[in-house]
Amino acid sequence: MLIAPSILSADFGKLREEIIAICDAGCDLVHVDVMDGHFVPNLTIGPVVVSAVAKASTKPLDVHLMVENNTFFVDLFAPMKPRYISFHIEEEKHPHRLIQKIRNLGISPAITLNPHTPPSAIEYLLEDLDMVLLMSVNPGFGGQKFIPSVLEKAARLKELIVKKNAQTLIEVDGGVNNQNIIALRDAGVDIVVAGNYVFGANDYKVAIDSLKV
Ligand code: DX5
Ligand code: ZN
Repeated sequence: MLIAPSILSADFGKLREEIIAICDAGCDLVHVDVMDGHFVPNLTIGPVVVSAVAKASTKPLDVHLMVENNTFFVDLFAPMKPRYISFHIEEEKHPHRLIQKIRNLGISPAITLNPHTPPSAIEYLLEDLDMVLLMSVNPGFGGQKFIPSVLEKAARLKELIVKKNAQTLIEVDGGVNNQNIIALRDAGVDIVVAGNYVFGANDYKVAIDSLKV
């Protein structure tokens, strides 16, 4: 299992130290939640802060867009050279075009599904995607309760990926902790995002290690 701590739960008063601490504690990616106050009822960070995050991080960035105008935000964050940019399928009329745009920028394209969105929504995009991000909470806030139906969804998505012989990774975001990590692994999940569970812990390394199953 690869671990992507969400910096939404970090102490933004000492963000640089927080980024260094999770990288030193052995995370695999740094998950960056971008919210615009329109697609979700919360507002987070823009390119000024994300470029500071990119400078502090020794691990690749995983940018999760929760915004209305995806193309605009892809252009805004591409200069920080994240490993992944994911956008919500619920908010994109031309996902195939946007996938190509992200890939042409040298970034791995990913699509996010809200809790109600079935894997079939992206069935014909799977081969073009490096990752699918399944929300296990409603996007907008850290510290929410895990929605267990994501386990069945991940297993169904995994079947589709295997059937198509695609290499797409499955990431799950929201309410992940040491109580649900085994079930997530068994459902075929490759990467987990964890905000509160990591940044709320006294020892980031202990928390991250407990998810490496
Ligand atoms: C929610 C964000 C998540 C969130 C996860 O909209 O996409 O990345 O920060 O936080 P936890 O792990 O606390 O649910
Ligand atoms: Zn996220």
